[in-house]
Amino acid sequence: MSTSIEINETVRHYYGEVLQSSADLKTSACCSIDAMPQYLKTLMASLHPEVVERFYGCGSPLPPALAGKTVLDLGCGSGRDCYLLSRLVGPSGRVIGVDMTPEQLEIAMRHRDWHAQRFGYANIEFLHGHIENLTTVGIADDSIDVVVSNCVINLSPEKPRVLAEIFRVLKPGGELYFSDVFADRRIPGELRQDPVLLGECLAGALYWEDFRRMLQVLGCPDVRMVKQNPISLDDPDIAHKIGMVKFKSVTVRAFKMNLEDRCEDYGQVACYLGTIPEHRHAFDLDDHHHFETGRPLRVCGNTADMLGLSRYGDHFQIMGDKSRHFGLFDCSPGPHGESSASGGSCC
Ligand SMILES: C[S@@+](CC[C@H](N)C(=O)[O-])C[C@H]1O[C@@H](n2cnc3c(N)ncnc32)[C@H](O)[C@@H]1O
Repeated sequence: MSTSIEINETVRHYYGEVLQSSADLKTSACCSIDAMPQYLKTLMASLHPEVVERFYGCGSPLPPALAGKTVLDLGCGSGRDCYLLSRLVGPSGRVIGVDMTPEQLEIAMRHRDWHAQRFGYANIEFLHGHIENLTTVGIADDSIDVVVSNCVINLSPEKPRVLAEIFRVLKPGGELYFSDVFADRRIPGELRQDPVLLGECLAGALYWEDFRRMLQVLGCPDVRMVKQNPISLDDPDIAHKIGMVKFKSVTVRAFKMNLEDRCEDYGQVACYLGTIPEHRHAFDLDDHHHFETGRPLRVCGNTADMLGLSRYGDHFQIMGDKSRHFGLFDCSPGPHGESSASGGSCC
């Protein structure tokens, strides 16, 4: 049985020495630029090619409405998402990237001045440290507006500690928005230490129900799935070892606020104002809440709070409060299905 230190060392070796570019990965997890919305593709064009080549993420955890915010990227690697975030938060915002692999951070840091010159400002700090203990890199309680992470939490041998740290450093009303590999079952014990399966983000992949329970313990009983994509195991050896498990890359959204463990009906209505510049016509909270600009939608109490008590509050009109209760909220699946499997509650 490997210790946490040994698992960290296996992962550090994989990302510091084994992989040289995203082409070396053995699964389809690494998402292509084609899947990005146009405004992110435009920003991608302003990044240094080496930073783009060394991207090992499995999604685009870049939520809207970031101008002026402080964003923390856990396991920032060679910095692709940090440089995109730098543009999204703008000169009055701040981006902090944390990673434990010196070789990855060295690439991120080497291109900092190059990007600062292109962007006309410098607002990124890269810190060497472990995401299980963010005090060692000086991240204070309640100091971060948004925590993002791209294909990293699965690699941690101490996931509950990472999640606890996230909720410690987030400001009240702050958002966790991350992409990661999830498995349709718990990974068999004998495969969890396999160095290649670990490095490829498979051996430590989260089983959704266990992840949901971890967040519940931390006081977050309603977590939302935003997007999901199946991952194919392209390498025959890997498929032979672990092909009985189905993997997907999932983008997840959770908030630091008091929420209920079920969707309750208080007769509330939310209307998106269309004021987020890159999302003029609609805003997707999750895979079954699609808010068209100007079109009121009935919402449960949790959804009303996620929209009204977070930074999205400036962009929504929430009608009604919690003074009168009408029972459980009937949150039937949207056109994409997945309602009951996609969150900590029915919503
Ligand atoms: C799959 S790569 C993703 C890198 C980056 N997010 C991206 O999208 O390109 C995983 C990264 O997480 C870092 N990492 C893994 N476990 C970590 C831990 N416990 N603490 C800090 N960094 C960690 C690795 O060093 C590596 O750079």
